[in-house]
Amino acid sequence: MKHIIESQQFNQKLINEIFSIADKLENKTDNSCKGKIMVSLFYEPSTRTRFSFESAMLRLGGSVITTENAKEFSSAAKGETIEDSIRVINNYADVIILRHFEEGASQKAAAVSKIPVINAGDGVGQHPTQALLDLYTIKRELKKINGIKIALVGDLKNGRTIRSLAYLLGKYKNVKIYFVSPKDLRVGEDIKKYLNRHNTYYKEIEDLKSIIKEIDVLYQTRIQKERFKTEKEYKKFKGCYKIDLTLVKQMKPKSIIMHPLPRVDEILPEVDNSPKAVYFKQTHYGLFIRMALLKMILKN
Ligand code: CP
Repeated sequence: MKHIIESQQFNQKLINEIFSIADKLENKTDNSCKGKIMVSLFYEPSTRTRFSFESAMLRLGGSVITTENAKEFSSAAKGETIEDSIRVINNYADVIILRHFEEGASQKAAAVSKIPVINAGDGVGQHPTQALLDLYTIKRELKKINGIKIALVGDLKNGRTIRSLAYLLGKYKNVKIYFVSPKDLRVGEDIKKYLNRHNTYYKEIEDLKSIIKEIDVLYQTRIQKERFKTEKEYKKFKGCYKIDLTLVKQMKPKSIIMHPLPRVDEILPEVDNSPKAVYFKQTHYGLFIRMALLKMILKN
């Protein structure tokens, strides 16, 4: 594992190894990254991904240098290309955590980088470390991944987290995926082709209520205002799926509700105290997954 760019690069053996290391790191500190420096280079806003990677590196005994708004406060503002920035940062650090507004930016960065690049979200492309922590959450909460029924809900056209998670789910047996979205926000053809190749069952629907009683995981996502060209276009879809307690009461007793966060209005706060609501636990699991990834990628 030189770089982490997309979910397709992982197989079950590697995923199990990451999960096993994450299990061991839970609520622990460790000095395996002592003397190493991580750059968090973020061209788009973030709460979870940046802070959890930075916390992970510090908990592994390493150090962090960061720009939280590289679009404005790095030399990108003066016209520097991503490739040139990466070539230069190679002189200062041992690993780069990159969030960028352009799909494919991590590939471009990895192509010129001698040190590992970890994709922390590239536009409407992928967010592979989020998908790993999502899968880990499912494993921890349901004790299985094979055979689950999952609804991926919301803006599936622009949502990079559901794209990366769908790619990972395609590696498991007897998983049933319901893509729940308005017609204009359907999941990309690339995902459907991949799932067809892997004989993974999926169905595209608009009505969440029609499958609410049979799913094990409700994975809700935000309608992403920043991906729409106009406010008017965004408002067409805003609020199209809202999870409230009435809906939650129809779910199976041991089912869970996940969300990559941030949320806006798509899960009502009244749901937060339900034992099914694991979206804040999900952020906690993410810390150990990111510790495991840094430990593995920096081991040489
Ligand atoms: N889930 C996620 O990527 O959150 P942030 O945008 O806060 O990093």
